[in-house]
Amino acid sequence: MSRKKIVAGNWKMNKTLQEAEALVKEVLSSETPGDVVKIFFPPFPYINSVSNLIYDYQNGFHCGAQNCHYNDSGAFTGEVSAKAAASVGARYVLIGHSERRIMHKEGPEFLKLKISRCLENNLVPVYCIGEMLPGREANKHFGIVERQLEEVMFNFSVDDVRKIVVAYEPVWAIGTGKTASPEEAGEMHSFIRNRIAHHYNEEIANAISILYGGSCNAQNAKALFATKDIDGGLIGGASLQASDFVSIINSF
Ligand code: 13P
Repeated sequence: MSRKKIVAGNWKMNKTLQEAEALVKEVLSSETPGDVVKIFFPPFPYINSVSNLIYDYQNGFHCGAQNCHYNDSGAFTGEVSAKAAASVGARYVLIGHSERRIMHKEGPEFLKLKISRCLENNLVPVYCIGEMLPGREANKHFGIVERQLEEVMFNFSVDDVRKIVVAYEPVWAIGTGKTASPEEAGEMHSFIRNRIAHHYNEEIANAISILYGGSCNAQNAKALFATKDIDGGLIGGASLQASDFVSIINSF
């Protein structure tokens, strides 16, 4: 199976430019496997600098944007388009992160448009899905995730959907120190892959990388990444420290 192994660091609203550059340089100077795709998702103002730092290095390093607007240009004060993000070196974009769904009320219609803009601009959308705590406690997590797939991702053609990366991030595990166990995460990842196979086909389902996110760290990454259907991680807090991020990258 030739699915990409991916470890991505979502820095959220953290770091200054100087701190960002220091972190990237430290990660680049560390030993990391070339067959793992490694992505930094810095705040928008640092994308260009981070991209320039990794440009010469290659070895599977990429830069991404944490969000994009659903239009290519226009009167949208304070927003950044996928086209603009691509022009400064982004290759991936986080779409539908729970913090944006919750705090910025991003719904399926917007998310579909954002994915379209990414694809038009040759950016890889990392589509984030996951249930909140009440959904998990009410045992509705599979239905919630299925709806998030159907309302957004399953509107895309076979050719487009294979370009998308999925990130399963149970909201109750984000920033809480409460990780989904490898069993809990693994059964959801298998469920997601089965739904993709059901809607499209096995070949597509086996080609799409599905990342886990939510308090993934240097201690628990190995067990999570060894689990069937988990192809890597989308890391928040633990990606802000070079040594932690490097040890997560080396956890396959
Ligand atoms: P934490 O790793 O800090 O829980 O954040 C996960 C996340 O939201 C990554 O997008």
